[in-house]
Amino acid sequence: MTRRPLIAGNWKMNLDHLQSIALVQKLAWTLKDASYDPKGVEVAVFPPFTDLRSVQTLIDADRFTLAFGGQDLSPKDAGAYTGDISGAFLKALGCTYVIVGHSERRQGHGETDEIVNAKVLAAVRHGLVPVICVGETEEELELHGTSAVPVAQTKAALAGVPAGTPVVVAYEPVWAIGTGKVATPETAQQVGVAIRAAVAAVLSDDDAAETRILYGGSVKSGNIAGFMRKPDVDGALVGGASLDPTEFAGIARFPDHVGA
Ligand code: 13P
Repeated sequence: MTRRPLIAGNWKMNLDHLQSIALVQKLAWTLKDASYDPKGVEVAVFPPFTDLRSVQTLIDADRFTLAFGGQDLSPKDAGAYTGDISGAFLKALGCTYVIVGHSERRQGHGETDEIVNAKVLAAVRHGLVPVICVGETEEELELHGTSAVPVAQTKAALAGVPAGTPVVVAYEPVWAIGTGKVATPETAQQVGVAIRAAVAAVLSDDDAAETRILYGGSVKSGNIAGFMRKPDVDGALVGGASLDPTEFAGIARFPDHVGA
């Protein structure tokens, strides 16, 4: 079983639709100049909602081999939910993926495991692949150890998801996000194994073997190789460094550093 690595750029609340066009163009050209092989590594961007149409149009027109997705979605499909975005709208815009349960939404918008689960089910209903973010705070790390919180969050997020459904899980320790404090590749591997076992327990062994587990938290072109050498780390969810197309392309070109 070989899992195609996924390098995903979560832009968070950065770049308007004009800036998004400039970034995607530069990213695609940089990858092309570097003879990037999309068969070997999948690259995806997660712009703000207001950029998605521009990004879609550019990628379609120029036939860039980049995937894209939303940063969040509503647990509901349609109706009187002011300010929310339906998975149906994201699907109609050509999104492949949607991020669900990012720690900035769990912490800043009170998203519980139940809400995250409802959003995962909504993504699946609309044919979107959820990129489920899990990870512990520094206090939780001290209280519960390395894998307990990511495993519990993974199991809760996947409740009711049918076996055979493609999902991605991103292990993003809260203490490593935007801090420059990076988890060690050994820790990411250890948590990756535990998350994969959780996917096997809720979905199936085959799903666990196929599910890509990403590491996120202060990933840069200079530290990606260490993570990608680990068998249970299948890519990265990149925040700050994804806003710099040269740096992000450097991360996507990790096989050059890994020697793969
Ligand atoms: P940084 O790469 O900026 O630490 O952010 C990680 C992240 O939250 C990606 O979703």
